[in-house]
Amino acid sequence: MRIVVALGEIYGARNLIPIRSAQVSGVSYKNLGDAGLEFLEEWAAEGARVRVPALMNPAGMDLERWREMGISPEFAAKQERVVVALTRMGVTASCTCTPYLVGHRPGAGEHIAWSESSAVSYANSVLGARSNREGGPGALAAAIVGCTAAYGLHLSASRWATHRVDVLCSLRDEADFGALGYWVGSQVADGVPYLRLLHRHAQEPAGRTSSGSLPSKTDGCTIRQEELMALGAAMGASGAVALYHIEGVTPEAEEARAVLDETRLPRLVVDDLGPAFAALNSPLERIDFVSLGCPHSTLGDIERVAKLLMGKRVRATFWVTTSRGVASLARERGWVEVIESAGGRVFSDTCLVVAPVEEMGFTAMATNSAKAAFYAPTHSRLQRRFGTLEQCVEAALSGTWSPGAAEAG
Ligand code: F3S
Repeated sequence: MRIVVALGEIYGARNLIPIRSAQVSGVSYKNLGDAGLEFLEEWAAEGARVRVPALMNPAGMDLERWREMGISPEFAAKQERVVVALTRMGVTASCTCTPYLVGHRPGAGEHIAWSESSAVSYANSVLGARSNREGGPGALAAAIVGCTAAYGLHLSASRWATHRVDVLCSLRDEADFGALGYWVGSQVADGVPYLRLLHRHAQEPAGRTSSGSLPSKTDGCTIRQEELMALGAAMGASGAVALYHIEGVTPEAEEARAVLDETRLPRLVVDDLGPAFAALNSPLERIDFVSLGCPHSTLGDIERVAKLLMGKRVRATFWVTTSRGVASLARERGWVEVIESAGGRVFSDTCLVVAPVEEMGFTAMATNSAKAAFYAPTHSRLQRRFGTLEQCVEAALSGTWSPGAAEAG
């Protein structure tokens, strides 16, 4: 309770509010280290228990297949202790940043204390729930006391737009949305951008699948769930954006527009994604590692990958990271088998940013995630290529990168 109250005092909260769920980051032993592990074990030993449903963010490894990832037994043992400590406190070992894909979808207006930035962004922006970007200990403390301090994005006034962003270029796929998110995040920091997509989809969205990936909302503007996930994840990485609005798409955009009409907000114009792609691409040709699934892959994306890999064989190490729930559905449909027969791996519970990939000998990675591309040089000591899912699969098959239209300028 002291942690929750102290955060409230720092941010000027007047009261506490009950929360319906928590999502706790800081699960990977890579990020926690021994000090973090001991802290969690101490709380568990003292009898701390969560009062509301609480979920874990990805860990540093697939909890079952860590040997196949090349994780050392020493790391695995410490990682298992982290998960045990959190489980003893009642936190579910969901180990995903996309809990909303596996049944944990907070409702509009629901107060929650989530901490992984892309999950917070999706919950706030797409689902209309209310969460600040909690730190791992803050989210855990909120789960234990069942409430959080009422400040920031829990308050309606903090959810109004701070910037208007007019996007004049067309957005074709999740890589374009990621590049856009990277650029907007770098400009608005922790603001609340209101995006107007003035040339959305000159063509049908790429890679529509039989397994869903439906637009998040419909009023004629088709934006796939994966595109919203890519956009929010990138804005949360290059900036600290925890809420965005898209005209005609996200649930609070109407109210946000009323504010726009009344105030003179800073206006940003995006007419070229080339600079964003350039910033997220190292000049590499050879690729030895391809990682998809940041945020954790949807069923639709796993289907897309399986269809591209059917009957083929990858040359580079190829990972798709996803939640255990989505992996299980993909396995039932035969897509995991297709990907793994081609030499790839579908791992759960983890991702390339929180796994100790810097110890695995990779040097050059390809990804379709602007967030992963943003973090790769610092978190994983990897040079990287960033592009579409199709480019990444092609890179896995050939071991080389073929520039796409946006990079070619
Ligand atoms: Fe999720 Fe890991 Fe990316 S936690 S958003 S897959 S960095």
